[in-house]
Order: sequence, then structure tokens, then C-alpha cells
Amino acid sequence: MLYPVELGLPEELSEETKRLMRLLGHVSRQGRLREDGRDKLEQVISFLPLMRKVLSKTNKRKSLNVLECASGKGHLGLLLNQFLSEETDREINWVGIDNSEKLVKKCRNIAEEMGLENVEYRTSRILDYTCDGPIHVLLGLHACDTATDEALVKGLEIRARYIFLVPCCQREVSGQLAGIENGVLAVIAGNYTHRKVLGTLLTDSLRRLILESFGYEVDVFEYVSVRRTEKNIMIRGESGKVPDENSWVAYRSTLEELGLRLTLDELLVERGLSPPLE
Ligand SMILES: C[S@@+](CC[C@H](N)C(=O)[O-])C[C@H]1O[C@@H](n2cnc3c(N)ncnc32)[C@H](O)[C@@H]1O
Repeated sequence: MLYPVELGLPEELSEETKRLMRLLGHVSRQGRLREDGRDKLEQVISFLPLMRKVLSKTNKRKSLNVLECASGKGHLGLLLNQFLSEETDREINWVGIDNSEKLVKKCRNIAEEMGLENVEYRTSRILDYTCDGPIHVLLGLHACDTATDEALVKGLEIRARYIFLVPCCQREVSGQLAGIENGVLAVIAGNYTHRKVLGTLLTDSLRRLILESFGYEVDVFEYVSVRRTEKNIMIRGESGKVPDENSWVAYRSTLEELGLRLTLDELLVERGLSPPLE
């Protein structure tokens, strides 16, 4: 089959969607789905149920404003916007930001060629970007290393109702774990490969604690099969909960106990953000 439904694609793809997939390079000249495009495609499609839920839980009379951080080649934004726009009457405003001018240009060209007026791409470092209006959903798919922290802090700063992060290459913490000599963690940190895994786990746990401290309900789950990407863990936050003081205490004591210096922590200070605890 040309567009396998087992990927989670709608059975009948519109001609516009097929054209977009060709422009994004998912489909060969012969009209076949490329093998190397399947992984990214499935990652994108796995966002669909999450976004449908957002659409159902937000004000149906208002536009849905999405900020995508580290938009790269535009696979996530352009395709997700296309799929969602075909199944909802809601107006969706999608802004993708990336610090690579070349990639932003590429995305703009595709958006222009597709005649997409609700999608725009801007060249910016995530934290330097100033939003024109309220943002309901902030996304960050594979924003490398501490770029995910920039996305998280941007989400807190603009009070995005939903923050969906799929982190990748979390290097910052693992590099600092080499010096741990005592306690249970030293058993893991003594080995390079295990230290890397521990660094990833700690980094994402600290991100989760920060979201909880700021009043987000957080889920952490495998949003797509590991066969599609080994960076398949999503941290999904929805605001509206009471800020969790225990999470804040756990965050601070973990940093202190392990002597960690985090970009996340520095960015929170830089932007004057602290949890709104009673
Ligand atoms: C691994 S790619 C992921 C791209 C896309 N989200 C995807 O999953 O296909 C990471 C992207 O992050 C961008 N990036 C890295 N640091 C950034 C920052 N601080 N601000 C904005 N973009 C950044 C890079 O230019 C690159 O396009």
C-alpha cells in the first residue's frame, strides 16, 4: 500500500496532504513512501491524538495558537497542521521557531507553496522569541540538549496551557555525574554508558519536577514506539493544578545533593521565574 494505515495515517489522504508529503520528502518521485521518512512520519502522527484532545478541551469558539520550538525542517508543524486543519473547523495558528535561518527559509517556502496562511516560521533562539499573543500549546520535539530547557522556560513564561516536550541528547547532567563517588548513584555513574542513561533520567525528572512546581499536571510516557526513535519519551504538562511544593523541594534538594548546575535553573533565574507557591 502506498500510504500504510498501520502508520496511523487517515485511510484517505487528501491530494493536498500528499503534495505536502512530497514537498517534505516523505514520498519518492514514484509516489512511494520513503523508508527513511517513516520514522519521522510516525512521530508526527503520534501527536495527533494529543492535539485532538487539546482541541476538545479548549474554547471551540477561539483559535488554537501553537508555538513549536526548534521546528527544524518543519515535519511536525506542517504535517500536523495539515492533518488537524482537515478534521476541524477551528482556526489554528501555528508558529515555528528555529535558530537556523536556512531551515526556517525551507519551511517558509513549503508553507508558501502550499498556500498555508495560518502557518509561519521565524528565525530565533527559543528564549529570545517574543509571542504576538496568547499561546495555548507549546511543543518541542527533539530540541537538542538544553534547547528543551529553553522551550520549557518559554512555556512557563508565556503561561502556555499545554507544554509537550520530547527531549533529546540530554548531555548536560551526565557530564557532571562523573565525579559522584558515594552512594547508590555512584554505582551507576561509574560506567560511561550507564552514566549517560542516568543523566537523561535525572534531567527529565528535574524537568518534570519544575513543571509540577509551577502547577502543571505532568505525564511522562512513550509517545511512539522505540523502533521509530530511541528518543521517544514525552513529558506532557497541562496547567491548572495547585503548584506542588514537594516537587519544588525535591528539585532543589536533588540539585544540592548532587552538586548539579543546570541551564534550566539558570534560565529560571534569568527570566525571574519561581514557582507560585503559597
Ligand atoms: C534535532 S533537530 C529537531 C527538529 C525538529 N523538531 C524535528 O524533530 O524534526 C533540532 C533543531 O533545534 C534547533 N535548535 C537548537 N537549539 C536551538 C535554540 N536554542 N533555539 C532555536 N532552535 C534551536 C536546530 O536548529 C534544529 O533545527
